[in-house]
Amino acid sequence: MSVSRRQFITTAALSSLALGLEAQESKSSGQVKMARKPVLISAANGYNYIDRGYGILSGGGDPLEAGLSVVRGPEDDANDHSVGLGGLPNEEGVVELDSCCMHGPSQRAGAVGGVHDIKNVSLLARAVMEHTGHVMLVGDNATKFGLEIGFARENLLTDASRKMWLLWKEANSDRDWWGPGPDDPRWHAPQEEAPAPQSELWPRRLQKLEQLASRLGIAPELRQEAIRNIFYPPTGTIHCSVLNAKGEMAGTTTTSGLAWKVPGRVGDSPIIGAGCYTDQEVGSAGATGSGEENIKVCGAKTIVENMRHGMNPREAGMDTLRRIAHNYRNDMTRLRYIDMTYYILRKDGAYAGVSLWTGYNPGKPHQFAIHDGSRRLEPTVALFDGYSREWPPMPKGTAY
Ligand code: GLY
Repeated sequence: MSVSRRQFITTAALSSLALGLEAQESKSSGQVKMARKPVLISAANGYNYIDRGYGILSGGGDPLEAGLSVVRGPEDDANDHSVGLGGLPNEEGVVELDSCCMHGPSQRAGAVGGVHDIKNVSLLARAVMEHTGHVMLVGDNATKFGLEIGFARENLLTDASRKMWLLWKEANSDRDWWGPGPDDPRWHAPQEEAPAPQSELWPRRLQKLEQLASRLGIAPELRQEAIRNIFYPPTGTIHCSVLNAKGEMAGTTTTSGLAWKVPGRVGDSPIIGAGCYTDQEVGSAGATGSGEENIKVCGAKTIVENMRHGMNPREAGMDTLRRIAHNYRNDMTRLRYIDMTYYILRKDGAYAGVSLWTGYNPGKPHQFAIHDGSRRLEPTVALFDGYSREWPPMPKGTAY
């Protein structure tokens, strides 16, 4: 690729950010025929940005442009520790981001995995789609591609996320993500190795973590979240599926992945067919949650295929969740340590949010954001009644 060509691509990539505005203008001049009600569905952390996406759709805008405007919100938000800037890092303290997108009208896709130092990886995934003959770039070379076409280099590890990482390192210095996972026959349920959170050790652990957090300079208002991230390493993520007034569809998913992951780990979010899948003739779906489990059932693609064969969005999602349970032979002890939420939008505007468990935070059920003219949060329909649990667990008799 020559320098002049890169410069051309940079201009094209950045100018396409203005597409939404152009579409709004064309509507006000009466050129857009509203054929049907636009719909956006996203993870709950898209709630504050879904109006922005709906605005683009109301102007007759492109569905991917609208979806990207939603997921860019958490990417830009340093206080969202699951996506983009401020995302929780890998075990070495490096923030590695994954993303993909699909554009229904052109049935094209783009994806990036393991990107560092670039905040808006959803836009980078689109740039791969629009400016290369490939679908997916990964690691240092995906980052290099982004910098070459004009994305800004940024330090994504904020002071808050760095301190949470230090807290994790100090609290878990004898534990990490190496070793058997819940799908391995050698794995043992943590109840056999560790006292339950309600045990008498629990308050002492919390107190010590509080002290450690204070020593590390974690702001008092962030300490609870930091400690929670130690017990429940979040998978975070945001997905958004979109239907515009012309019946065009798109989907995009972006994440900093599983907190404290082994460097190089790539989850489901950038995998076309797992973290996101859009078929212009059927619908669009995406996922947040346990990436490894979702990859094994090709979740988003399975949902779209289920809808192609006649299932409604909720049935299509529930069937896919049951496949995850089936992979574990319905072993509820293991499934308790897994969670998954799917966001599903059919071509006619019918939608569903489904999850494996009611939630992962007792008393706080999973929700999704929806906008079809009015913006709201709705609870997911859960396959299993109850709350998932943290993994890896705090081991028996630790100092915490
Ligand atoms: N679902 C996000 C991840 O596992 O990375």
